[in-house]
Amino acid sequence: MTKSASHAWLDGKLVPWSDATIHISTEAVLRGENVFEGIRAYWNPDEGQLYAFRHADHIARLRQGAHIMRMAVPYSDEQIEAASLDLIRACGYRENIHYRPVVYFAEGELTHYLPSEIRTGFFILAFPMPSKPTIETGVKSCVSTWRRNSDMASPSRIKAGSNYHNSRLAYVEARLNGFGPPVMLNAAGKVAEGPGACIMIVRRGKLITPPVTADILESITRETVMELAERELGLTVVERDIDRSELYVCEEAFFCGSGAEVLPIASIDHYDIGGGKPGAITRQLQQIYFDVVRGKVEKYRHWLTPIYGAETARQAAE
Ligand SMILES: Cc1ncc(COP(=O)(O)O)c(C=O)c1O
Repeated sequence: MTKSASHAWLDGKLVPWSDATIHISTEAVLRGENVFEGIRAYWNPDEGQLYAFRHADHIARLRQGAHIMRMAVPYSDEQIEAASLDLIRACGYRENIHYRPVVYFAEGELTHYLPSEIRTGFFILAFPMPSKPTIETGVKSCVSTWRRNSDMASPSRIKAGSNYHNSRLAYVEARLNGFGPPVMLNAAGKVAEGPGACIMIVRRGKLITPPVTADILESITRETVMELAERELGLTVVERDIDRSELYVCEEAFFCGSGAEVLPIASIDHYDIGGGKPGAITRQLQQIYFDVVRGKVEKYRHWLTPIYGAETARQAAE
């Protein structure tokens, strides 16, 4: 499926989709030099409102990644938020969407990073993104033969476009072997994450997830799920290394990420998990997560940014 939308936001302005182009000689095109975010916004039909989830936290992570890459983000947080909202409103979305702010290097050399040497550009894309049917059934996973990008080489902490070559190799291998998203181990042989989501398992009733030093992206959904598990379900959450063989004996397992949401894992390497069906804790976490992102839980509404003005939202709800 080729992605398209009515508009994109490119280097300071809203542009029609067909004008959203950058030159083939940019470092972004030649060497994949960009840092990006994937943020979801959820439609609340009762309120006629679209809520972006943890927008500010995503932009903070974008800045962190750009900082490590020595890329100077050319816009303020306020400008990025206004641009994101302008784009989504221009596209007129009234459904669940995914939007993607991207900071990129334009024409220059591989060694360039100073604003006087190379232009740093910025664009935003926004697309409809419904939940996948596997959110109900769970996915058949496997352990990839590919290792997750190491912090010693290409830190997974940075959501850099170039890091996703590693993800793609793992996804395609899993797909060729008849699996959904795989689990990736790090260079130390411990469980890291999926190619586009973090992983959590349940063992003896505790929720366990690899630490942020396990070559993972510092996932905002991971943090969200950990907080909801502790505060709302009273679960003990443990951040520690996970061995591959623990995946085969855990009671439940799921991926979590903005795109993946809370995605149950039904089996790994043909070992059924929890009888091959989403487990009770996974189900409860899904329920709370989906309520929170849609603005149904008052105490977590500080994580939401309404896209439409109150008047537009009221009219849409009528
Ligand atoms: C490699 C990788 N890990 C983890 C995640 C989850 O991060 P977040 O919850 O911030 O979306 C993502 C993106 O969704 C990802 O691409």
